[in-house]
Amino acid sequence: MIVGATSGIGEGLARRYAEEGQVKVGIMGRRAGRLKGLCRLRPEVFEAEVCDVTDLERVEASLERLAARMGGLDLLILSAGTGDLNPLLDYGVERAALETNVLGWTCVADWAVRRFERQGRGHLAAITSAGGLRGSGAAPAYSATKAFQMNYLEGLRQRLQGKNLPVCVTDLRPGFVDTAMAKGEGLFWVASVEEACRHIMRGIARRKDVVYVTRRWRLVAWFYRRIPGWLFKRMQG
Ligand SMILES: NC(=O)c1ccc[n+]([C@@H]2O[C@H](COP(=O)([O-])OP(=O)(O)OC[C@H]3O[C@@H](n4cnc5c(N)ncnc54)[C@H](OP(=O)(O)O)[C@@H]3O)[C@@H](O)[C@H]2O)c1
Repeated sequence: MIVGATSGIGEGLARRYAEEGQVKVGIMGRRAGRLKGLCRLRPEVFEAEVCDVTDLERVEASLERLAARMGGLDLLILSAGTGDLNPLLDYGVERAALETNVLGWTCVADWAVRRFERQGRGHLAAITSAGGLRGSGAAPAYSATKAFQMNYLEGLRQRLQGKNLPVCVTDLRPGFVDTAMAKGEGLFWVASVEEACRHIMRGIARRKDVVYVTRRWRLVAWFYRRIPGWLFKRMQG
């Protein structure tokens, strides 16, 4: 199941898993037209459910319905996310990131982990961001919510370790990927959606804890994390 499958990396993953052909692929997102378009390509493979993850009253029921139509759930990929550059520090922009990347995101992640614990196996893979490793002056809520997600996934992994179950949690951390989400000046090492999906699918198949997308971003992350605070605050966000 892919949550946030109506564009970008989520849609790319949906198409690639569908090409593998041996599994049902559940796709969830806000835009019914885009979901229908995908279903038309492979009606025997795709099952779709329209859902906005910020609609907290409905999210769990939508996830249950989709999983039931798929006939079970082995892997949930959580790609839905939002965030904008916010030079005016407009609270509306920050709030949208908080509602999607924290409230809606946690509702989906918790539902998946509870389900996997009940069934005794499963895999949650969530797309966070290398941008969540430090604060960002240009998009404070985006970087902070991605930090929340990385921290939350680490917590889930620790919880599951204690239960000794074959339930896996993968934190997928892209640098820049060529989608609507890649915003701002001076982008570098921008991966195509195809390249990003290949890396993500390999990381998931290997049941990794943390995957940088692409691998060279592990190096960036290493340096990024070590920049001292006094220097970091002087850098352009
Ligand atoms: N592209 C990058 O450079 C980059 C870098 C690091 C991390 N990421 C992360 O990768 C993930 C996928 O982003 P992308 O690059 O593929 O950009 P994208 O094309 O903008 O995809 C974002 C997806 O999230 C969905 N979404 C947003 N809010 C939602 C909500 N409330 N309920 C349900 N779905 C919602 C969007 O749905 P709609 O189609 O309805 O808008 C869209 O399908 C995001 O979590 C993003 O933070 C991307």
